[in-house]
Amino acid sequence: MKFLLHTYGCQMNVRDAEAVAAVLEAAGHLPAVDENDADLILVNTCSVRGKAEDKAVGKLGLLCAGKRLAPHRLVGVMGCMAQRRGAALLKKIPQLDLVLGTRQQQALPELLARLTAGERGILQLDDPTATPRVSQAHRAGAISAFVSVLLGCNRRCAYCVVPDVRGAEYSRPAKDILEEVQQLADAGVREITLLGQSVMNYGRSNAVWETPPTRSPGGFQEDFPRLLEAVSAIAGIRRLRFTSGHPSGCTNELIRAMRDLPHVCPHLHLPVQSGSDRILELMRRGYTAAQYLEVVGRLRAAMPSFALTSDVIVGFPTETADDFEATRHLLAAAAFDNSFIFKYSPRPGTPAAAMPDDVPTAEKIRRNQVLLADQDILGQRLNDACLNQTLHVLVEGVSLRNTQRWAGRSPGNKIVLFTHQPTIAVGDLVPVQITRAAAQTLYGDVVGLADAHVPSATLTPQAALPLPNKEPL
Ligand code: SAH
Ligand code: SF4
Ligand code: F3S
Repeated sequence: MKFLLHTYGCQMNVRDAEAVAAVLEAAGHLPAVDENDADLILVNTCSVRGKAEDKAVGKLGLLCAGKRLAPHRLVGVMGCMAQRRGAALLKKIPQLDLVLGTRQQQALPELLARLTAGERGILQLDDPTATPRVSQAHRAGAISAFVSVLLGCNRRCAYCVVPDVRGAEYSRPAKDILEEVQQLADAGVREITLLGQSVMNYGRSNAVWETPPTRSPGGFQEDFPRLLEAVSAIAGIRRLRFTSGHPSGCTNELIRAMRDLPHVCPHLHLPVQSGSDRILELMRRGYTAAQYLEVVGRLRAAMPSFALTSDVIVGFPTETADDFEATRHLLAAAAFDNSFIFKYSPRPGTPAAAMPDDVPTAEKIRRNQVLLADQDILGQRLNDACLNQTLHVLVEGVSLRNTQRWAGRSPGNKIVLFTHQPTIAVGDLVPVQITRAAAQTLYGDVVGLADAHVPSATLTPQAALPLPNKEPL
């Protein structure tokens, strides 16, 4: 059978799609080149905003209508909307062949056998009481890979549907994660991104070590820094990233791990959501703007080349012009390298959905545009500061726009384009001197030899500053 996946949403969905593709390929199925070529089309959905769901429903409707011309084609839905709406989706779009929860990748070959035998409208959702089975399957050939370490979320921010959909927090056993990373490293992967909604909560809700590692003096006591240390020690891994962060996870030990462990990149995606304390409290984020900035200060003090990215929601219920100004101030004070700005969208069943959605759409759009413009200026300024610097770039491949150029990423996760040289291969770390800076992209020239074996910690200046002895939130 030839399959095609359409993926919306966050990195979790990207990772799940990859697992599905790998599971299907291992079962003898082949990727299709396009929709016409496909016997099975799976739409991998996101529920985080209403628009994301509407788009997916529209797409599914079109695909199901297309079955008139290709009656053999199977259409399925997976991901967060599939899990959230389940049977209701089958009712709304009766031609759907399969509705799959977010933790069902391994069940797919068996479900496909049932579909081949003629069954239709199969509903296979996650059981919130069962221990999740996570597929460790990856496709071959990549330089970079996502590894899920923490599933679900326990934070319950007032606006967010993710905890309802993805369930309670569950940390995968460290042994499984390390095995998965080892296999990836053996297959040529050089960069790992560990995934979780509040990824530093790893190990806080359930035990993760078979036998707790001995706690050496000076070693890490907390589970997530320990995991970083163990992953970073796997031969072949040159870069280690993780996302998303929450200020409560930025303990001094975590910051020390980021600063001192080889390969861990000095970059954090730390969504702030708002700069107004009143709104932050209504959002139930668990910090004030000042506390957020204090955390950022500690990160920057420890890592001179630290890069920070964020998410912001505009138009949360009751957000006033003053609240919005506070967000603009915070954006400037935190100096984000990049941020994603979202217009608030009420999600059924969340506490915020019971509040008045009282910021008019036009005003949400305006605030969104103001922050985008602020961020553009800020991003350009921060990228200009990279001019003439030499950044170490992990080579990802030929640039999509210009095949004479190659593309990679800096330790701070900025896209860097550079002129290719025949000695450079995908997966190398090369020193690139920056000659031109746009708001989203840096351009430069290779100024030295590719060194496949230099750990990133020796490439980025890591001053041995003592950490301010401040208790985390
Ligand atoms: N777990 C991550 C965020 C996952 S959702 C974290 O907390 O860091 C990704 C982003 O979508 C959030 O950071 C938030 O900015 C945005 N978002 C979530 N729910 C939303 C809603 N109801 N309306 C608008 N944006 C929302
Ligand atoms: Fe949603 Fe908050 Fe959990 Fe992030 S931390 S997934 S925003 S509830
Ligand atoms: Fe991600 Fe969207 Fe689900 S943000 S966790 S795909 S609701």
